[in-house]
This record gives sequence, C-alpha cells and structure tokens, in this order.
Amino acid sequence: MVEVKLVRWVSLVLALVLSIAHISYCDFNPVDNYLITCGSSQNVSIQGRFFLPDLQQSSFVLKTQGNSIVATSNSSVPSPIFQSARLFPVPASYKFDIQQEGRHWIRLYFYPIDSNHNLRSAPITVVTENFVLLNNFIFDNYNGAFLFKEYLVNLTSDTLTLTFIPSSNSVAFVNGIEVVSVPDELIPDQAQAVSHSSPFSGLSDLALETVYRLNMGGPLVTPQNDTLGRTWENDEKYLHVNSSAVNVSVNPTTIKYRPGVTPEIAPNWVYATAETMGEANVPVLSFNVTWVFPVDPNFMYFVRVHLCDIASKALNNLVFNTYVNSDIALASLDLSSLTGALAVPYYKDFVSNSSMEESNTLTLSIGPDSDADISDAVMNGLEIMKISNGARSLDGLSSVKALLPKTPSKKSKLGIIVGLVVGSLVALLSIAWCAFCVIARKSNATNQGHPWLALPIYGNSQTMTKGSTTSQKSGTASIISLASSNFGRFFMFQEIMDATNKFDESLLLGVGGFGRVYNGTLDDGTQVAVKRGNPRSEQGLAEFRTEIEMLSKLRHRHLVSLIGYCDERSEMILVYEYMANGPLRSHLYGTDLPALSWKQRLEICIGAARGLHYLHTGAAQSIIHRDVKTTNILLDDNFVAKVADFGLSKTGPALDQTHVSTAVKGSFGYLDPEYFRRQQLTEKSDVYSFGVVLMEVLCTRPALNPGLPREQVNIAEWAMNWQKKGLLSQIMDTKLIGKVNPASLKKFGETAENCLAEYGVDRPSMGDVLWNLEYALQLEETSSAVTEPEDNSTNHIPIIPLTPLQPFDHSVNMNDGVTSSTDDDAEDSTTSAVFSQLVNPRGR
Ligand SMILES: *[C@@H]1O[C@H](CO)[C@@H](O)[C@H](O)[C@H]1NC(C)=O
Ligand SMILES: *[C@@H]1O[C@H](CO)[C@@H](O)[C@H](O)[C@H]1NC(C)=O
Ligand SMILES: *[C@@H]1O[C@H](CO)[C@@H](O)[C@H](O)[C@H]1NC(C)=O
Ligand SMILES: *[C@@H]1O[C@H](CO)[C@@H](O)[C@H](O)[C@H]1NC(C)=O
Ligand SMILES: *[C@@H]1O[C@H](CO)[C@@H](O)[C@H](O)[C@H]1NC(C)=O
Ligand SMILES: *[C@@H]1O[C@H](CO)[C@@H](O)[C@H](O)[C@H]1NC(C)=O
Ligand SMILES: *[C@@H]1O[C@H](CO)[C@@H](O)[C@H](O)[C@H]1NC(C)=O
Ligand SMILES: *[C@@H]1O[C@H](CO)[C@@H](O)[C@H](O)[C@H]1NC(C)=O
Repeated sequence: MVEVKLVRWVSLVLALVLSIAHISYCDFNPVDNYLITCGSSQNVSIQGRFFLPDLQQSSFVLKTQGNSIVATSNSSVPSPIFQSARLFPVPASYKFDIQQEGRHWIRLYFYPIDSNHNLRSAPITVVTENFVLLNNFIFDNYNGAFLFKEYLVNLTSDTLTLTFIPSSNSVAFVNGIEVVSVPDELIPDQAQAVSHSSPFSGLSDLALETVYRLNMGGPLVTPQNDTLGRTWENDEKYLHVNSSAVNVSVNPTTIKYRPGVTPEIAPNWVYATAETMGEANVPVLSFNVTWVFPVDPNFMYFVRVHLCDIASKALNNLVFNTYVNSDIALASLDLSSLTGALAVPYYKDFVSNSSMEESNTLTLSIGPDSDADISDAVMNGLEIMKISNGARSLDGLSSVKALLPKTPSKKSKLGIIVGLVVGSLVALLSIAWCAFCVIARKSNATNQGHPWLALPIYGNSQTMTKGSTTSQKSGTASIISLASSNFGRFFMFQEIMDATNKFDESLLLGVGGFGRVYNGTLDDGTQVAVKRGNPRSEQGLAEFRTEIEMLSKLRHRHLVSLIGYCDERSEMILVYEYMANGPLRSHLYGTDLPALSWKQRLEICIGAARGLHYLHTGAAQSIIHRDVKTTNILLDDNFVAKVADFGLSKTGPALDQTHVSTAVKGSFGYLDPEYFRRQQLTEKSDVYSFGVVLMEVLCTRPALNPGLPREQVNIAEWAMNWQKKGLLSQIMDTKLIGKVNPASLKKFGETAENCLAEYGVDRPSMGDVLWNLEYALQLEETSSAVTEPEDNSTNHIPIIPLTPLQPFDHSVNMNDGVTSSTDDDAEDSTTSAVFSQLVNPRGR
C-alpha cells in the first residue's frame, strides 16, 4: 500500500516539475528577430516592440543597383511604422543573415504615404529566393488604408533575400519588415485533409500566408499579448447568422496548458473566450453555427481550429461536430475525453482544398452531435492560412523565376537549341502516334457511345476529337473526347493563341473560379471572349464539361452563346460571343461607369429573367443555373442582358420528383437559405438568387459586404427589412432618387420580396417574376409617356392603372406565352403577348 502511495506521490511531483519546466519553456525567445522600419532615421516603438531603421543594422544589407528613395510623412498615419517608406525604382533586395534554419515569420507593412511618386498606383511585387509573396499588388484596387501581410516560410539556408520588384516607370515600396524565428513545432509537416481519407503531408516545404486569425467570442489580441507577435481579431463579422452564436469567457489564468499545447500555439486570451450556440429565437436546438470567409479558390488552405471547453459544467457533456465547407472535419468530438479536464486547450489542423468547392468562400461550421447530452458546441480560435501553389507562389501563377528580371545568358541560347532538337523529336513521334491512332480508330470505329469520356486529367490516354478537322499534333494528352459534333466549333490551340495575342494580360477581361477570361479576335475579325480553365483543377474539368454540355443544348437571346471550345494539350478553353459591356455588376458599383437608368435596369432584369425562365422551362428537362449573380449576367453592346456561366448548372428534378439532392454549391450572399439547410435543389433556388440580384440592382451594393455594420452585411436581410417597412426607397441607389415612378418601384420591391421568401413554395416561378418585372417596366414607361408624349411604342397605352392586379396570381399561367421565346424573332411577339394579357389577366 505504502509503495503504491509513494509511486503516486512521485508521479505527482514529476508531473508538477514537468509542468513547471513546461511553463518556463513558454518564454519563447526568437533567435532571428529583425524588426525594421524602412527609410526611417529613428527607432519606432509599436506596442512595446522596437523597430530599428533599415540602414543601421549590420546583420542585413540592402542591395540595389540604383538608388533607393526615402519618403517620410508627418501627417497622421495609422501607425508609427507607416511614417516612412523606402521606394525602389529598380529591383532591390534586403538580405538577412539567418542564424537558425526553420520556420520564420516574414511580416510586411505597406502604406502609400504622400511622396513625389503616386504610391497608390504603384504595383508591388515581393519575392524570396523560393517563393512569390506578393504579385503586382496595387493600393488603387484595394479597399483599405494600409496593408499588413504575414507569411510563414521555412528557411533552409543561412540567408534570406527579400526582393522588391517595381514595374517599369514605377516604384515598389515598403514601410516595415519583420523576420522572426518561429518554434519548429508550430506548423507540422502533416495535417488531416478535409474530404480525403489520406492526410496531406509536405507542409514543411511550402510557404503559408495568414489570411484569417480569429479570437472567437473575444476581443482583439495584439502582438503584445502573444508570444509570437500575432494579432487575433474578433469573429463576429464572419458569422453567417450573427444571432446563431453567443460568446462565453473565463479568466485567462484559468486556462490549463498541458504538454502538446503551449502558449506559442495560441495565447490563453484566445482559449479563454469562445463562441457557443445561441439559443435565442431558435425553435430547433439542432443547428450549425457557420462562419463564412472569402478566399481565393485557386489555393489550398491550412485551417487550424483552437478548442477549449470553457462552457461546460461537467466532463463529457459537450459532444459536437465541426465542418469545413460541407465536409465533416471533426465528427462527434468529445473534448473532455481528449483533454481529461475542462479548460484545457486543444487544437487540430486541416488542409482544405477550396478549389474543389466551386466557390470563393471557405466555411467553418460547428453543430451539436445527435448523441450529446446537451445541445451545444464551442469554438475558441481559428487560423486560416493560404498554402503556396505549384508555382511556389502565394499570389497568382507566376514563379519567382518568371518575376525576377531576366539577365540574358548563354543558357537561354543553349535552351533554344535543346528546344529545337527536342521539338523535332516530339514532332516525329507525334506523326508516328497519329498514324497509329488512325489505324487504331478504324479498328475501333463502332465503339463510340459516350459524348463525355471520363479520362484521367494527368493521364496519358490519347483521344481524338471528331469535331476537329486536323488531327491532334502534339503528344500530350487531350482531356476530353467529344464524340458528338454539335458542341460548337473546335479551335486549335494555336488559333486561340493568335486570337488572344498569346493570352496577353492586357486583354484580360476577368478572373473567376474556373480560370481567366480574355478578349480575343478571330481571324475573321469576330470579337470573342476566351475562357481558359486552370488545367490542374479537377473541379474545372467537371465544370468545363457541364458548360459545353449545357450550352450546346441551349440557344436563346438571353443566354450567352458558346461559339466553340479547345481541348488540345490538356487545355480547357471555351470561346463565347463577346459581351462588350461586361458583367452587370460593373455597371452597378465598384467602377466609374455611368449609372444605369431605372428603365435600363428593368430591361436588364427582364432579359435575365427571360434567360432563366427559358432555362427552367424551355428545355425538355428543366435546368437549374445554381449560380445566379450580378457577375454572371453579362451585357452586350446594346445592353441586352444574357445569363452566363453554366459551370454549376444541374438538370432539375424529373417529373416524379420535387427536388434534386446535392451538395451545396453557389456563391454566398446569393444562396437560397432553404437549399443551404436542406440541400435540396429546385428552380426556386435560382429565384431566390435572382431576388438578391434585384436588390443589388436597386441598392447598388454587393450582396455581402462584411465591412458594413452587422445588420447591413447581407443585402437580402437588410433590404427585406426596409421592404417590409415599405421604405425600400430609403436605401435605393441615390442616383435614382426622383427618377423612378413610385408605382414601378413598389412593384419591383414586391417582386424582389417574393423572390426572397424563406420557403421555396412561397416564391414565384421565374415566369411570374418575369411577368411582374414587365409590369414594373410598363408602369415606368406609362409614367414617362405622360411627360414624353412622342414615345411611339404601341405597348404603352396607359391601360394599367385601370386594371387592379394581384401580384403573383398563380391562377394566371404565363408560361405558354413565354416559353415560345426560344428564338430571337419570337421575342417581340412574346413581349406583346405578355402585355396583352396584362389587360385582362383572367381572360384565358
Ligand atoms: C534604437 O534602439 C537600439 C537598440 O534598442 C539602440 O541601440 C539605439 O541607440 C536606438 N537608436 C536611437 C536613435 O534611439
Ligand atoms: C512636416 O514637418 C516639417 C518640419 O517639422 C514641416 O516643415 C512640414 O510642413 C511638415 N509637413 C506636414 C505635411 O505636416
Ligand atoms: C524545414 O525544411 C527542412 C528541409 O526540407 C526540413 O528538414 C525541416 O523539418 C523543415 N522545418 C519545419 C519546421 O518544417
Ligand atoms: C460578448 O457578447 C456581448 C453581448 O452578447 C457583448 O456585449 C460583448 O461585447 C461580447 N464580447 C466580445 C468580446 O465580443
Ligand atoms: C494585453 O496585455 C495587457 C498587459 O500585458 C493587459 O493589460 C491587457 O488586458 C491584455 N489585453 C488583451 C486583450 O489581451
Ligand atoms: C451542419 O452542416 C453540415 C455540413 O454542411 C450538414 O451536413 C449538417 O447536416 C448540418 N447540421 C445541422 C443540424 O443543420
Ligand atoms: C487538392 O486538389 C488538387 C487538385 O484538384 C490535388 O492535386 C490535391 O492533392 C488536393 N489536395 C488535398 C489535400 O485534397
Ligand atoms: C446581431 O446583430 C444585431 C443587430 O443586427 C444585434 O442587435 C445583436 O446583438 C447581434 N447579436 C450578437 C450575438 O452579436
């Protein structure tokens, strides 16, 4: 007995000693610790940390072939570090001596202070020896006064060279730099891959960039209160529904660190506060708390969740699930069983492939497990870091080599010769290969059933494209086989190169989840839009197929038409008719294009509604667009609206079904809440998104704007509040004030309101929406007809005020009149058909 007691006592003492040792280890002292203020002649102190002038330290040097320029400002700046800057008219480098290899923070501070150069329009590119950190960043395109960037790079040599590259005739600049050691334990090499069974490994070789770091339910934690100098911000503005969460907090000193989690992982300030499930106004206790984060879909993200049960009264009460996007990340997590006590921190890492998610957001959700005693969930902290891509870049697709100014060398000449030799060899092999293919094809000619043959993207399989007149020349794999020729014209890659001047960046029209869109000119002079998919994304391949498949079936005046495609050399290129006036959104806000008149806006909405109505009802099987938004409504040179981007489209429910079950896809801010909750897709999801579009058109602001006060972030929520009070005119575009017929506006508001109904069944069909918008236009035109009697349209006889109409009278089936609008000529007769029915809606 005594022995047993002794053993217990010894182990207790041991544990105590260990935990003391552990605490002393917490005082992390970075070996490399450069805090630099650039262009300054004085030390700068920020929150207890001293930044030294960049030319007064011997352990790093500034290397530049030209002169750097110093700029200082004594007007008020957001932080003392921004009082000075160093400007580089030619590429220049800071070279740091590194004493300890391993992970380091690289933190950069930028603020465009007043100087002789316009720093707001100066593109800044920053690279290390191995990684692109910043590529052509311009303040003019950025919605913020200053820029703070934090990177985490594993340095494996005894120097670090940070190079700042200006574009020609401009300058690059920087205000402050930190290069600071980080404990190696902070970032592991492996993390659980979300939606993949195998873990993701190889992180130690990749660079990370902090994009979000949140102290859930708590205040801003500043570098002063974090041993690694990190900043943690409050999470509230990222909550999808703010009332879904309530904050809880305890005294930070009650947080009990155990081996494995140290204050370097996260300070106790972070673990001492959390968001839990809010119970106010919630009928069902089982729901998710969801945070939504805009991200660049072309990158993978490292996600670290910090958990600590500060909410429960007893052990093993709290069992909950954590989701990243819609994938389960931590299932039935019982924190007590992992930590053995309450208030003990725990963290878990994930790698998320948001590129597979077809959206520009990453979401994190927590929700109670069905088996839990109490229905609750906690989240204390969250970090989301961008992972460098295949080009070893954190910003764009260019590699360091492509961005560094070229020094012409003998190597390149040698390269050309080698290239020529290899090229001719490849050509010879290809000819042999084609001959082989033709023979193989002849013997296999009957076996050609599927229009879409699934082939591995990286695979070596070779397919022939029937639509093309020439055979495939190169030896690289073609990704898709199009055995049917009605998919539009086949373009050769060379034709596309010629049309877009080799994908000249100055012809870039836009960049989306799928890839980049260029303006092109075919050799017959036709203007086209060329969408080039990112060949490495599997999701892109699926979208590419969907888009060709959908568009080749559909022809309509209000749908963007596909001219052809190119799948040569693993490319996924789609060629569309050129829409000279670009996306609707750019005519609403964010640019300085002239404001659209109310009538123009109505006509555009009507055009888009026609396109969607045709999608829903025009084809044999209805088609749900799934990504209706103002960037997917394009305008041609006559401002005729056309619906674009069918990458996410799905054929609708068959006759005997009411919905299609599917993973939630689409764009946040436009997403049907019912679809989000039940994952059941109907045409009414498009109607909801279209309602958001209508509100956007009226209020000229983005669907989601996290920068606004909480109740205004989501346009659907905000505008509905005003609409329900009958005060929608208070929040409409100020440029419209006094220029809109109130009856027309009222009709428009009601239409949008009905589209945004909580439940799909309460929403009108697209045909009804169209009808109501036509009515709103009619109201507008009759009112202006009074002031402009020369208006010559026969449709504008002021009959409407005489005929009281009920909105969305479902007994009126307008579909017959509208579905015939499948070709351009039918369009006008359709319009009058609709109008003639306005006179007597029940007379059918
Ligand atoms: C700046 O700080 C360093 C180290 O803290 C000190 O040696 C130096 O004298 C200071 N310089 C000025 C101008 O205050
Ligand atoms: C900055 O300070 C200098 C000298 O202290 C003064 O001459 C100058 O007017 C100040 N500039 C601004 C923008 O305040
Ligand atoms: C940094 O990279 C080296 C070499 O790849 C590797 O051995 C080391 O474990 C890495 N360190 C960290 C902290 O990832
Ligand atoms: C926690 O929530 C309360 C109200 O629910 C709020 O007053 C307080 O500011 C919140 N605390 C933090 C740190 O966000
Ligand atoms: C930060 O630390 C200071 C003193 O070290 C303390 O007074 C303050 O409350 C802390 N604040 C937060 C939010 O961590
Ligand atoms: C929470 O979200 C996940 C992922 O989107 C979903 O599978 C789950 O059903 C949701 N739970 C509740 C209670 O809504
Ligand atoms: C993410 O997707 C890319 C391409 O789709 C794939 O190569 C990579 O392995 C994926 N990573 C994870 C962690 O799933
Ligand atoms: C949510 O926002 C409303 C205002 O829109 C505010 O009154 C409420 O306190 C917020 N709730 C939480 C939990 O922050």
